[in-house]
Amino acid sequence: MTDEREVESLKNAVAALQWWHTIDLGNGIVTPGGDPTPARLPELQIPHDLTGLTVLDIGAWDGFFSFEAERRGATRVLATDSFCWGRGGWGTKAGFELARQALGSRVEDLDIDPLELSPDRIGTFDLVFCFGVLYHMRHPLLALERVFSVTRRHLILQTQVDLSAIERPAIAFYPGTELNNDPTNWCGPNPAAVIAMLRTVGFSEIKTVSQWFAREVSLADVNGPPVSGHITVHAWR
Ligand SMILES: C[S@@+](CC[C@H](N)C(=O)[O-])C[C@H]1O[C@@H](n2cnc3c(N)ncnc32)[C@H](O)[C@@H]1O
Repeated sequence: MTDEREVESLKNAVAALQWWHTIDLGNGIVTPGGDPTPARLPELQIPHDLTGLTVLDIGAWDGFFSFEAERRGATRVLATDSFCWGRGGWGTKAGFELARQALGSRVEDLDIDPLELSPDRIGTFDLVFCFGVLYHMRHPLLALERVFSVTRRHLILQTQVDLSAIERPAIAFYPGTELNNDPTNWCGPNPAAVIAMLRTVGFSEIKTVSQWFAREVSLADVNGPPVSGHITVHAWR
């Protein structure tokens, strides 16, 4: 097959799938994800050089951040997911598999729920990514206990936050579709609760590196609908 035909065939394969992540696969092919993924990198503040590190990406979905960790020099990357890899979620694993092949990536994969993570099942990792997963958890503190158990040194966590005008740790509960009309969104911790939960599960050093809110929030918002916002926190054992 000529290179041109290979590129054409990849283009068609990409077009046949639904994507969440925007991934540059080379040769002018970029996956048409609804998420502007590369633009999120500055707020995550992932170290530029990951040479020699092992990385775990929890809730990897199409795998953008796993491939990015590999690109930054990680020696081993494990992408995990379950819900969006065919367990009833919005997507499938097909995008991850196609992107991995197109990029010639050696990222490993494991279908596992966040609550099943443990050193016995997957070992421990120098650096752990947990982006956009915590607010989907019915048991957020338990999920963070599992995340801590597989973190050897450094966790980067990004999550939806709510009740941000409250200074004490507080968590909004979404029993229905209150947040973004999505029944899989269960909790919106406020920034103080994210930090307190991380400390409670065992992290000793915690630093908020970015926060974003759709608008300024005040105590009047506490009784209203959720205001979109998210924070990125780095935590170390
Ligand atoms: C908003 S996506 C974030 C994907 C990726 N980490 C990112 O930041 O772009 C949420 C991820 O959490 C995963 N997930 C794990 N457990 C889930 C659950 N119980 N409900 C919904 N999503 C869950 C989904 O499969 C999905 O990959």
